[in-house]
Formats: sequence, structure tokens, C-alpha cells
Amino acid sequence: MADLVIRGGRRLEGEHTVQGAKNSALPILAATAATRGQCVIRRCPDISDVEATLQILKHLGCRVIREGGSVTVDASTLTGSAVPEALMREMRSSIAFLGPLLSATGRADLSSPGGCEIGLRPINLHLDAMRALGVQISDEGGRLRCAAPGGIKGARLSLSFPSVGATENVMIAAATASGVTVLTNAAREPEIVDLANFLTSCGANIHGAGEGTVVIEGVKRLHGAEHTVIPDRITAVTFLCAAAITGGEVLLRGANPNQMDAMLAVLEQCGGRIRRAENNALHFCMPGRLCRLPTIRTMPYPGFPTDAQAVFMALAALGDGTGIIIETIFENRFRHVSQLRKMGARIRVEGNVAVIEGVPRLAGTAVDACDLRAGAALAVAGLAAEGETRVRETRHIDRGWENIETHLRSIGAEITRVNS
Ligand code: EPZ
Repeated sequence: MADLVIRGGRRLEGEHTVQGAKNSALPILAATAATRGQCVIRRCPDISDVEATLQILKHLGCRVIREGGSVTVDASTLTGSAVPEALMREMRSSIAFLGPLLSATGRADLSSPGGCEIGLRPINLHLDAMRALGVQISDEGGRLRCAAPGGIKGARLSLSFPSVGATENVMIAAATASGVTVLTNAAREPEIVDLANFLTSCGANIHGAGEGTVVIEGVKRLHGAEHTVIPDRITAVTFLCAAAITGGEVLLRGANPNQMDAMLAVLEQCGGRIRRAENNALHFCMPGRLCRLPTIRTMPYPGFPTDAQAVFMALAALGDGTGIIIETIFENRFRHVSQLRKMGARIRVEGNVAVIEGVPRLAGTAVDACDLRAGAALAVAGLAAEGETRVRETRHIDRGWENIETHLRSIGAEITRVNS
């Protein structure tokens, strides 16, 4: 077990190259199981959720080689269609194997991934969508046995909520279905488009990804392909918030600002200056005091992303005035509030609304990361807090950030990882 120990008060300044997107790499790696050939996935972040995904691929019989940021998966040797409970429990998003296994083998034997720190996270939308595609599903004591004896059949279906994961499972399962699938009220996140681009490079026939309606014309099979994962818009904005909260500046390399509009707008409204530099680089500085944050309401893309809610709450804690954050996606995503309060933040929560009264300073203390985004937010708060902040349960942060302390230190933070 490790903790992050941060001595606050240093102004951050420097350059940061954005890692590959966790929420793109995970479904794309799972989707390689649906291909008959070798895939090379580049810019795979070095994080524990990717490692857990590679373990599942190996368990299924795929040949997996990791070389730096590139992962090669040869799924032509895939033999399994069952993911053991232990591996399912490792990572909530192991449900991403539902579509790939059905596509590759016509079967999928998974445990229900269960809830996590931020909510119940049911999978009813995934299962209803698979049933619409002709899949039979039985739930035997939490073990899902899925089968498409007559093959996956294209269908017209609509999601009652634009679920990212359910959209991904439908795109992958329908890619090799017989007939055409029309999915309405689909998620529009950039990670959906990235997955569709990967599947298309494997021979799939997909149109409309990133819009409300996705049309997938089933093909016989998917071949291998090479693909570079898009940059991680959430870790990218986290480093901007680290500069913002310390009154610093950062040059972000490799980001895609067009996928960050809602978050960049908030940073500008609270006093940040953003300039697009050469080669898609983004220069950010916080010349003056952190102003009051505008009201933030988390929404499906292109709205403000729920994954950035915690780190912007850390900013609001020191903002000049009172900020309001409304969390509309997950029912339990304010667990960082109690930890920020331990640092002196003044936050009131009523249901899914948090009212944050900015204070002039935060005090470093020991806090607990309860999920990966909350953990990163506490580290960012510690950068500006007086004295020493110890963020415990760093394993949560490592699920989504590559060596967070190394990257923060490279832009001036006084931060070390110690064994707890
Ligand atoms: C993806 O989770 C991301 N994870 C999440 O990021 C992200 O917060 C979320 O999308 C929303 O953008 C990955 O991509 C690996 P959803 P996912 O299905 O697919 C409810 C992070 O920090 N719902 O869009 O699980 C659900 O409970 C993680 O990187 C159902 O009710 O999210 C939630 O309230 C956290 N039934 C809402 O929909 C279902 O069958 C959004 O969930 C599925 C979802």
C-alpha cells in the first residue's frame, strides 16, 4: 500500500504530455477479443485497469505482449468465453467483454461486475440491448450466462440513457451480427468515436458514432488492425487544474482541446487563460486569484463530464465565492466532500447538489482516496494546501493515472510516494 505525500504551496510550471485515454483503451483492448488476427494498440496508459484487462485477455487464451506504450494482442488463439469472478471483480469495466465474447464465440459467461464507490452501476441497459440483438441471458446467482445460439441478429434499439458502456457493447456485438443495427440515444463521448474508428479499421461498417444514432452493418468477421488511443481528456484537465489551483502555468502536449470544451470553458470563467499553441498543444495559466466557479452540472458528452467533477470541486474549495456542482450521472459521487472538509473546505451537500463556499486557504492533513477521480482531486487540493497532505489508498489513483507523482513533480510539485 502506498500514500502520496504532498507539501503544498508551490506554483506549478512546466510541460506535460497527456497519456492515452483509460476509457478508450479499456473498451478497445476488450474489443480485440472480437478480432481474428493481431492488433497493435498504441498509447495504452500504464495503469492498473489496463493491466487487469490484459489479464482477462490472457485468461481467454489471447497472446498479449506489452512493449512500452504499445500492446499487441493476437486473439486468433482465443478459446475461452468465461471471465472468472476474481478477474471481473478486479475492474468494474470488465463488462466491456460482453460484446466482444458474444461476437467472437456466441457466448459470454461473466459475473455481474457489481457496484463500486460511485454508485450501484447496474448493467440492465447492457443486458436489454444484448437481448434485443437475439442474445439469451440467464442470471444464475450473479453469474451471467449469455448465448446467441442463432447468432447475433441486427436490430433497431434505443437506450433509455446514453450509457457509454452499453453503447460500446452494442457496437462491438453488432459489428459481426447478421443484418443492420440502428442504435438510438447512443452515448456521444469521444471514446465512443475512438472505439468505432478502431472497429472500422478492423473491417467493421459503422456510421454515426459520436452522434445520437449509430448504424452498424454486420460483417462476417473482424481482422486485426493497428490503432493509437486518443488522449485522456480527464487526466489532461486534471493537470490544468493543478496549475490553476497553484496560480501556475502548464503547456499541455498531445491533448485534444476540441474534446475538452465544457471543462476549458469553466477554467476560463474562473480566471484561467487558455491559448492554443502549435501541434495541438495547449498553454494554460492562472494569472490572478481563482475566481468563483460557475455552476457545474455534470451531463453526458458534450456536457461537463462527471469524471472531472471532483477535481473542479477542489478548485471551487479555494475559489473566490460560492460554487455549485450538480452531479446528475452517478448517485454517490460526492465521497471526496468529507475528505476536502478535513482540509478545511466549506461544502454543503443536499442530494446531488454540492454548495462550495470558497475559503482563503486549505490545511494539509491525511485524507483517503475513495475512487480514482476523487483521489486525484485530493492530490490537487494538497498542492495548494498549507503544510503536508497525505493521500492514502493511492491504488485508486493508479487505476487511471500513470505515475501521477512523477508527472506532477516534473512541473514543480513537491510530492513523493511512500509506503503506508
Ligand atoms: C463510463 O462508465 C466510464 N468508464 C466512467 O468513467 C464514466 O464516468 C461514465 O462512462 C460516464 O461518462 C469507462 O469508460 C471504463 P454509463 P459506464 O454506463 O459505461 C447508469 C472513470 O472515473 N447505468 O454511461 O459504466 C449508471 O449507473 C469512470 O474513469 C444504468 O443504470 O457509465 C450511471 O448512473 C467512472 N444501467 C449512468 O447510467 C446500465 O446498464 C451512466 O453510466 C448502465 C449504466
